[in-house]
Amino acid sequence: MAIELYSQREIEKIKRASKVVAEVLALVAENVKPGVSTWELEMIARREAQKRNATPAFLGYKPPFSDKSYPAALCISINDEVVHGLPKKEKIIKEGDVVSIDFGAILDGYAGDSALTVIAGKGSPTAQKLLEATKEALYRAIEKATPGRKIGDITHAIHETATSYGFKTILRYGGHGVGRKVHQEPFVPNNPKDVGKKNPRLRQGMVIAIEPMLAVGTEETVEDGDGWTVKTKDGSLAAHFEHTVAITRKGPVILTEL
Ligand code: MF3
Ligand code: CO
Repeated sequence: MAIELYSQREIEKIKRASKVVAEVLALVAENVKPGVSTWELEMIARREAQKRNATPAFLGYKPPFSDKSYPAALCISINDEVVHGLPKKEKIIKEGDVVSIDFGAILDGYAGDSALTVIAGKGSPTAQKLLEATKEALYRAIEKATPGRKIGDITHAIHETATSYGFKTILRYGGHGVGRKVHQEPFVPNNPKDVGKKNPRLRQGMVIAIEPMLAVGTEETVEDGDGWTVKTKDGSLAAHFEHTVAITRKGPVILTEL
């Protein structure tokens, strides 16, 4: 499948879905506290999406990288968990936990996708630095999302930021096209080893989710026993930030900002 290009009108629709995503994520993030279960956060996301007449994009969705449907609205990935952490009643957030929350919503046939990481209570200096680096990687990457540049320019911005802090970029996971579906082409790698020969050029009308995933100690991941949760291979901390971004004539436009 070719990379889909969106008209200004369609980008407005993706923006409306993305606004719901931003609002729901902010509300969920406010509720990340020691003692709260990740399932309680899941319930908040479902309720708040419904209030806004939006459908959670991940709930019941079969992503391209799996042969089964994802059973929740949120991905909540804690500490050494990188992405796709499954919310569970028995999973209770503790003081100092590094909590990544990822949410997608569909409104009027268009999707938005965003993620952020927060620390429950007071985090370690390393945790704080990791969050700062991952957020900086996202914003440096967004600056590269202009017509004429290449997907690999986004990857390199993420990787250089990570390296400048002494952190790693996760292999084999990354961003993606988003709009009429939550996962579309192109793949947007976080690690330069994943930039292929194709390395598509960015064009006006593309909409992509840019989602740096950084870890303290390794690029490598392993899948947890639940069939979804992806963890760092060495057990080191990971963080994740994501925005849906439109590539326009005037440059990058972040759609999932409040
Ligand atoms: N935002 C996540 C991603 O782009 C979505 C995970 S899809 C799920 O990787 F179905 F696994 F939740
Ligand atoms: Co995404």
